[in-house]
Amino acid sequence: MAHARIGVHPIAGAIGAEITGIDLSRPMDDETFAEVRRAFNQHLVIFFRDQVITPEQHKAFGRRFGDLDVDRFVLPGMPEHPEIIVVKKTEGERYAFGNVWHADVTFYEKPVLGSMLYALEVPPHGGDTLFANMYLAYETLSEGLKRSLADLRAVHSAIGAYDSSAIKDRFGPERSIQIRRDREDEARREMSHPVVRTHPETGRKSLFVDRAYTKRLDGMTAEESRPLLEYLWTHQEKPEFTCRFRWQKGSLAFWDNRCAHHYANNDYHGFVRLMHRVTVCGDTPR
Ligand code: SIN
Repeated sequence: MAHARIGVHPIAGAIGAEITGIDLSRPMDDETFAEVRRAFNQHLVIFFRDQVITPEQHKAFGRRFGDLDVDRFVLPGMPEHPEIIVVKKTEGERYAFGNVWHADVTFYEKPVLGSMLYALEVPPHGGDTLFANMYLAYETLSEGLKRSLADLRAVHSAIGAYDSSAIKDRFGPERSIQIRRDREDEARREMSHPVVRTHPETGRKSLFVDRAYTKRLDGMTAEESRPLLEYLWTHQEKPEFTCRFRWQKGSLAFWDNRCAHHYANNDYHGFVRLMHRVTVCGDTPR
């Protein structure tokens, strides 16, 4: 169905479309919002350019899709806006938040529906974000493997990704994004989710394991799980399933965490990249 109120311009064959005709600083009527939501369901990640929005307007757009999450693990949030995470890399840092293929917080009982990232300062080159379509990753598996995955569950945890000693070992102590030490026990908790989930709005199946947070298949050891997970992770990252977004100041990306993965490319050392992220609460994967 064509869109009457907005422009929808795919940026790749598999995933991602730029939306035009929208000013996110202004109220959006329900008909226009319904078209934006349809484009989101169809393209999995949508992009807006040249937006000038306040934290309140950023949160208001997020709230059109659901309640906002207040991240329990990452610092700093904005003091006056705890629903906004500041995603920042400074000139001197090596660490970049999100620099591994992942879906957000899959170790929650209800992983988030999606995340809305807004660019305030971008490097002169680099710092792109890549996205991958997990419907396609599932649909392109053989029927035999799909049958084998149908009843499998996987164990997710933030361990290794969020515990401060692991990050310090890899990147050194200097980084602007800190993990709250008082939450490390909680970050070590495990959560089991189906390996294949069905999207609550589109009814399509997608592959719901990722390199950052999936630790093993439920009921198996990490060693036993590794070959199959390694196969699925590598399959999920096929370039044909992806798109790559070049940020400009004022760009906003909103991705569907239930059926898309993303990867923050860490290729801009010596430059600042500053984003605000609002995250919309999700549901229990089925
Ligand atoms: C994230 O994983 O939320 C960060 C993505 C990015 O900075 O591009």
